[in-house]
Amino acid sequence: MTHTVRVALVGLGNVGRALLDLMISKAGTLRDQYGLELVLTGAADSSGAVLDAQGLAPGELRAHKSSGGGAGNYRGGQAGMSAPQMVELVAADVLVEAAAVNLQNGQPGLDCARAALRRGIGVVLADKGPLVHAFGELTAAAKAARFGLAYSATVCGALPVVNIGQRDLVACDVRLVRGIFNSTSNSILQAMAGGGSYEQALRQAQLDGIAEADPSLDVEGWDTANKLVIITNSILGQPATLADVQPVVGITKISAAEIHERAALGQVVKLVATAERENGRYALSVQPEWLPLNEFLAGVTGWEMGIVFDTDIMGLQQFKVDERGPVPTAAAVLRDVINLAAKPAS
Ligand SMILES: NC(=O)c1ccc[n+]([C@@H]2O[C@H](COP(=O)([O-])OP(=O)(O)OC[C@H]3O[C@@H](n4cnc5c(N)ncnc54)[C@H](OP(=O)(O)O)[C@@H]3O)[C@@H](O)[C@H]2O)c1
Repeated sequence: MTHTVRVALVGLGNVGRALLDLMISKAGTLRDQYGLELVLTGAADSSGAVLDAQGLAPGELRAHKSSGGGAGNYRGGQAGMSAPQMVELVAADVLVEAAAVNLQNGQPGLDCARAALRRGIGVVLADKGPLVHAFGELTAAAKAARFGLAYSATVCGALPVVNIGQRDLVACDVRLVRGIFNSTSNSILQAMAGGGSYEQALRQAQLDGIAEADPSLDVEGWDTANKLVIITNSILGQPATLADVQPVVGITKISAAEIHERAALGQVVKLVATAERENGRYALSVQPEWLPLNEFLAGVTGWEMGIVFDTDIMGLQQFKVDERGPVPTAAAVLRDVINLAAKPAS
């Protein structure tokens, strides 16, 4: 027997479109292995929204979006309808929120998540903004919702950092977490090590479509800090916001000359996030560090992201992933949708 899961999607950018592709390419796997059929009943982007309780065609919507259209001018769409308004109206079981991150106030994702949870609709986040601003509020609201709240895609894409930390480090005391969480800055540092200045490496990354036109979130450390805040709240059990991460220093002041000098000493620079327990609380920081080559994080190169959990009874757990493009993140969203759908209703 196949169970239908009605999905509403906010954000039709790289991740949203990749999810539409997966809804098509993985439909057979979802049906055969999980007994699930995903039906898209609403979608929103910055142009507006479209709703259809009978189901929108993911392939058609994706093609419309790729040819320059938007949800607002899709067949049956409503230009100017906001994403939270769509969530208030949509007939859905799960909201996938993959809008652009907003560090100022977490919107529109935060109001979308609030509206969904109020209506008993489960929430899957790719956008870190709502969690960074309102982790406690959203997790409390989710307890009352039918499908709950999942956000494994918000930390290192498909690397299941949140899942490992919440599910697998059972009864562990995690003394220290260190990680490299931003592949754009990591690949820029690697390019600088190969020759060229920061400016040249950044320009090349932008030409290659790796770095955003406005790369500040990545290269100034804020994307890394966002992920550290989510880990601190969700795995370490300490309420935290961005204001608790001090310092947040990016890679913009690192010179190619110093990279080469330190290389001769057997050191490599990485943008490292740290949560270290001191006097019963975790101190949080994001900054470049010069690491000896034999350290695990020194071997997290180029596009890779990685994390180390120093635990009392499960050893030094070290993980890394090499992923490119939005597909692994969309796959992590799909993982969360499937896991929420499999949970018995509370
Ligand atoms: N790309 C990755 O690999 C990756 C990995 C992990 C997490 N994430 C997170 O996932 C989210 C999506 O990433 P992305 O790469 O898909 O970003 P993106 O390509 O920039 O797409 C962002 C989407 O958000 C929509 N949007 C912006 N403002 C909106 C508003 N006020 N109301 C409704 N929709 C709005 C945009 O609409 P328009 O299309 O109309 O402009 C666009 O569809 C971000 O929060 C990002 O940080 C991404």
